Amino acid sequence: MFERPKSGERSILVHGGADQDEQAVQELRELALSAGVLPVATLISKRDTPDPRFFIGKGKLEELALTIAETEADLVLFNNPLSPSQERNLEKYLNVRVLDRTGLILDIFAQRAHSYEGKLQVELAQLKHLSTRLVRGWTHLERQKGGIGLRGPGETQLETDKRLIGKRISQIQKRLEKVDKQRGQGRRARRRSEVPVVGLVGYTNAGKSTLINVLTGAEVYAADQLFATLDPTLKRYALGSHQHVVLADTVGFVRDLPHELIAAFRSTLQETVEADLLLHVIDASDERVDETIAEVEKVIEEIGADEVPQIRVMNKIDRLVDVRAHIERDESGRPVQVWVSARTGEGLALIAECLQELFSDVLVTRHVKLGPADGDVRAMLYRIANILHEEQDESGGWVMRVEGTRAALQCLDNRFEPESASTQRAAESETLFV
Ligand code: GTP
Repeated sequence: MFERPKSGERSILVHGGADQDEQAVQELRELALSAGVLPVATLISKRDTPDPRFFIGKGKLEELALTIAETEADLVLFNNPLSPSQERNLEKYLNVRVLDRTGLILDIFAQRAHSYEGKLQVELAQLKHLSTRLVRGWTHLERQKGGIGLRGPGETQLETDKRLIGKRISQIQKRLEKVDKQRGQGRRARRRSEVPVVGLVGYTNAGKSTLINVLTGAEVYAADQLFATLDPTLKRYALGSHQHVVLADTVGFVRDLPHELIAAFRSTLQETVEADLLLHVIDASDERVDETIAEVEKVIEEIGADEVPQIRVMNKIDRLVDVRAHIERDESGRPVQVWVSARTGEGLALIAECLQELFSDVLVTRHVKLGPADGDVRAMLYRIANILHEEQDESGGWVMRVEGTRAALQCLDNRFEPESASTQRAAESETLFV
C-alpha cells in the first residue's frame, strides 16, 4: 500500500505504440498546456505490444525515471489508455503522479466547469472513471480525496469506497435530471418567443468563444486553451436592427474524446440537438482541417443533431494567403459556407447576412393604422420594428408599414381598438414574408 504522489506542474509526455504520429503528441502537448501543466520532455516508446505491468518496457521505464530526475518533473502524462494497475505500478516505481489521456481531459473539464450543471457533470464523469480504477494497493479514497465518509460495518475499504461512489453517482444523476427539466422549461419559453437558437459547434480551438465575443460583445471566456468553454453559454445576437437569435456555445471536441465523456456531456450538447441551425466553426488555417471537420461531423451524428441545418464558418482566414471573406452557396442559392476572421472582424457581417437569409421567414411585414392618440404605440414601433413606410393621414393619425419578428409584432394584436384590429386583420391576410 502506498500514498499516491502529489501532482505538479512540470510534466513528461509519453507516447507509446507503433503508430508514431507527431500530431498526436502535439495534441497531448496542447492538452497539457490547457490543463496548466508545462511539458518539459517527451519520450516516445516504439513497442508494439504494451508491457502488462508498466505499459512501457524496462529500458524506457529507466529512461523515464532518469528524465524525471534530470528535469525535476512531478507528473507523467501518457497519451495511451493505462489500466488502473499500470497506473499504480508506474506511480509506485517513479514516485510521481501518472495520468493517462482520459484522466488529463477530466482534469481540464474539472478546471473549466463553471455552472452548477457543468460541475455536476464533471464530477459524475470523474466518479465513473474513478470507480473503474479502484484497485487494491492504492491508499483509500478518503485519504486521496480528503475524507469522503466512514467505513460501514464489516466492509473492506475497497467495498466502502465503491459504495460511497455509487451513492454519490446516483445523487448527482438525480440532480442532473432536475437541472435538465429546468433547462427544458427555459427552452420552451424561448420557443414561445420564437427566438431562433443557433448552436455553435466545432473542434477545440476553432474560435467559437472568440466568435461569440465579437458577434455579441459578450464576455465569454476565450483563451488559447483547449476547452475554454464547457458550459453551454447562451447569448443574444442582433441580426438586423430588430431581429435577434440566441447563440449557444458548446464544448469543443478533441480527437478520440473518450466515449464515456461524450455520454457525460450529452446534456451540454443537448442545446445543439434542439437548435434551429448549427454554425460549425472551423479553423481553416489548421493543416488537419478535413480531419477536424470529420471528427465534429461524427459527434454531431452521434448526438442526433445531423438533421439540424448547418452553415460552416471557415474561421481564421487572416492566417491564409489570398483568401477573402465570402459566402459559398449551394445550387439553390442557400448559404452553406462562410469565410471569416473572428480576430480581424473580416466577414462577420456575412454571418449575419446568412442567418438573416435563413431566418427570413420569422420576419413579417404588417400594415398598421394609428389614431392621433396612439403616439406611444408609434414610439414603441420605432423601438421594436423596422419602419418601412409611414405617412400621416387627414385625421392626424399615421398609416405605417412595419417589419419585425412575428413575436415582437404580436403585441399589436392586443393593442388596438376593434376597428383598428379589423384593419390589422385585413392587413394580416396580405402579410408579406420577406
Ligand atoms: P474551445 O473552448 O477549446 O472549444 O475553443 P474555441 O473554439 O472556443 O476557441 P477560442 O475562441 O478560445 O479560440 C482559440 C484561439 O484561436 C484563441 O487564441 C483565439 O485568439 C484564436 N482565434 C480565434 N479566432 C481567430 C481568428 O480569426 N484568427 C486567428 N489568427 N486566431 C483566432
